[in-house]
Amino acid sequence: MHIGTTLTNYIIETQRGIQGATGEFTGLLNDIATACKKISALVDKGDLVGVLGSAGSENVQGETQKKLDIITNEVFIEALGYNGHAAGLASEEMDEICEMPKDAPRGHYLVLFDPLDGSSNIDVNVSVGTIFSILKAPEGVKDPKTEDFLQPGTKQVAAGYCLYGPSTMMVMTTGKGVQMFTLDKDFGEFLLTKNSVQIPEETQEFAINMSNSRFWEGPMKRYIDECLAGKEGPRGKDFNMRWVASMVAEVHRILSRGGVFMYPMDSKMQAKGTAGKLRLMYEANPMSFIIEQAGGASTTGRERIMDISPEGIHQRVPVVLGAKNEVELITRYHNEG
Ligand code: AHG
Ligand code: MN
Ligand code: MN
Repeated sequence: MHIGTTLTNYIIETQRGIQGATGEFTGLLNDIATACKKISALVDKGDLVGVLGSAGSENVQGETQKKLDIITNEVFIEALGYNGHAAGLASEEMDEICEMPKDAPRGHYLVLFDPLDGSSNIDVNVSVGTIFSILKAPEGVKDPKTEDFLQPGTKQVAAGYCLYGPSTMMVMTTGKGVQMFTLDKDFGEFLLTKNSVQIPEETQEFAINMSNSRFWEGPMKRYIDECLAGKEGPRGKDFNMRWVASMVAEVHRILSRGGVFMYPMDSKMQAKGTAGKLRLMYEANPMSFIIEQAGGASTTGRERIMDISPEGIHQRVPVVLGAKNEVELITRYHNEG
């Protein structure tokens, strides 16, 4: 596909060769692109339109919701609920799966989304994003229930994110590599700017919230200690660290210039009964699909993330993803205990 082609055209072209394609999937990705354009416009306007700040409520995971968490969630439902492309929707910001509008037609796809990832950054004008994961509704299921969404990441038919940074970028995979599109805000189209993205194999950069280090397990401490030891240590090279606190921005940096991102299990979370910070269905699975499609790897430290059989839509997992060699090394440290 040539650089500069529109996202709409790219989606139509990728569907052209598929036997039995009805245009429903094309329509669904278009709906998502529309939602992301709307969110991009809201994020751009920010304080001018009074969308910043806390909403004064909590989501199902006990996190304080920002006004924009709620508004962007509604933008997604509005864009996807009525067009007959989605069979069901689930969001990080909603306790239960979304009740679909009664009078609207239904499609065959399940869409899971984090409408505003990194929302703690929104009030300080730092990059945020949207993440989505697309599954097929089980054969013959017209009105999907929660259990129909509980499919492993390997079943995803597409996944992507939209990064609202200095430019707005849509990055996605349908299982045929990773493409990057940049929003031309003058005429409102995403244009292909990078084709078949590959993560550089070698890296000297890691991303982790270091303030949690005293709570980490041994294997994670070992890996980071060795990075910090630099040239004189066992890795024989100096490492650089970055932490944006928006997973979308972190993954985008890794796709662009390499590195490894970790949100490992820690004793603080364990004491609260959660297995990690990041959500399997809205964050870990879609990002793992993208990372693997770009030649990287993704694990909890002990198992491939996309192989996990989900137990709940809001399940959390430890996440280690990025350059394959680093992820393999971290996995080895976990196996060695
Ligand atoms: P969300 O804003 O959707 O709740 O996700 C925030 C996530 C992720 O984007 C980021 O990597 C991490 O939480 C930040 O965690 P810290 O607050 O520990 O830095
Ligand atoms: Mn998030
Ligand atoms: Mn979120």
